[in-house]
Amino acid sequence: MLNKKVEKALVDQIEKEGYSSNLYLSMASWAESKGLEGISRWLYAQAEEERMHMLKIVGYVNERGGHALISGFAQPPVDFDSVQKMFEQVYEHEQFVSNSINDIVAICLEEKDFTTHNWIQWFVTEQIEEEASASAILDKLKLAGANSLYLFDRDILSMRTAADAAE
Ligand code: FEO
Repeated sequence: MLNKKVEKALVDQIEKEGYSSNLYLSMASWAESKGLEGISRWLYAQAEEERMHMLKIVGYVNERGGHALISGFAQPPVDFDSVQKMFEQVYEHEQFVSNSINDIVAICLEEKDFTTHNWIQWFVTEQIEEEASASAILDKLKLAGANSLYLFDRDILSMRTAADAAE
C-alpha cells in the first residue's frame, strides 16, 4: 500500500506533468501559428513526452493501491515574446520540475518508501536529459541570434527528425 505522504506528492506531480504538457502544447501552437515548423514540432513532441510522464505516475499510483486524482490544469500562457524567451521559460520550467522530483525522492527517504524511491529514479535520470536538451537549445539559439531564426528552425527540425528515426 502506498504511503499517504508519498501518494500526495505523486498526485501533485501528476498535476505538474499535465501542466507541463499543456504548457508545451501552447508553445507549440504559438510557434506553429508563426510558421516555425521545426520549433513547433519539437514542442509538440515534448508535450507528448510530458503526457507520457503524467500517465506513468497515474499508472504507478493506481497499481500501488492509491488513487491518482486528476486535477483541472491551470491555464498556460498563450503568448510568448520571442523564441529565445520561450526557450528560457522551457529551461526554467524543467529546473522547477527537477526540484519537484528531488522533493519526492526526499519524501520517499523520510517515509522509508524504498519501492517508490527506486521507481522514481527513472524520473531523476529523465530530468537530467530534459534540462540538458533545453539548455543546449538555448545555447544554439543565443549563437544563432534573431537574424538566423529560419536556420535555427531548420536545425531543430533535423534534431527532431533524427530523434524520430532513432525511436
Ligand atoms: Fe516531465 Fe519535463 O518533466
